[in-house]
Amino acid sequence: MAEFDLNDLEKINKSEEIIDFLVAKEVIKEKKFKKQLAYERELNKLQFELLKLQQYLYLNNKRLLVIFEGRDAAGKGGTISRMIAKLNPKKCRIVALPKPTEEEQGQWYFQRYIKQLPNKGEFVFFDRSWYNRATVEPVFGFCTETQYELFLQQVTKLEQLLIDDGVILIKFFLSISKDEQQKRLEERKDDPMKQWKVGDLDEKAQEKWDDYTRYIEKMLKKTATKTSPWVEIATDDKKIARLETIKYLLTHVGGYVPSHAVENDEKILKIH
Ligand code: ADP
Ligand code: MLT
Repeated sequence: MAEFDLNDLEKINKSEEIIDFLVAKEVIKEKKFKKQLAYERELNKLQFELLKLQQYLYLNNKRLLVIFEGRDAAGKGGTISRMIAKLNPKKCRIVALPKPTEEEQGQWYFQRYIKQLPNKGEFVFFDRSWYNRATVEPVFGFCTETQYELFLQQVTKLEQLLIDDGVILIKFFLSISKDEQQKRLEERKDDPMKQWKVGDLDEKAQEKWDDYTRYIEKMLKKTATKTSPWVEIATDDKKIARLETIKYLLTHVGGYVPSHAVENDEKILKIH
């Protein structure tokens, strides 16, 4: 390691310069720190924009519902947590419903979700949603074929009713490759800090990969409409995916214009 003079370091103001300095002095070897720093910068900027978006929703009594769907370990929870990190917690909510109770199973399928819709001025995130009935449920036989077909008929009508009433609805589908899913599920098992993420069905995610693919493709095809498209985001690179998801959100809330130029990377995004 080269000579390290703290006086030099003190003269440096910007974090990039500090990294250049540390690389030059061989304290750190890799430029990857630069990438991490650029990510954090960008995330911070976008989080500030989200805060302004929240303010806009609040001041204009708008209701925003953002649905997150995706296979196990696609990064739904992680993306949502970055989105809400700097928001006013009194004006946003994450809804991640457990499997339906016996009582709920006797109700109209959508009933328990309806109770969770955003109120005026509110920013609501659904971490999984009514779309369980289009993927997880048929894959595992938690619903009948008739229930599944009925769901496909009802869901776009229901969403249109919400949109007509002024709810701003955005649907993200986070997509992951089979190898990356396997890697993340394995890592999760061994990490005590990630134990809470291990779902009961995770073990079967790889085994049921092809069944899921079939249902996912059908869902994206049948339930994307002009007013409520599916926004598919490739998430094998988690950080890029998070930034792209936030950028899409910031530019697709009718009436809201972010104060900084925000542009999506078309390679990461697919609109259905
Ligand atoms: P996670 O959301 O953490 O990935 P799981 O992988 O365990 O959780 O489950 C995926 C989804 O399937 C969850 O929304 C869960 O509520 C739902 N689910 C699990 N078991 C059932 C069941 N028996 N009937 C209906 N839905 C279920
Ligand atoms: C995700 O990582 O996509 C979810 O938050 C957790 C899961 O699906 O297992």
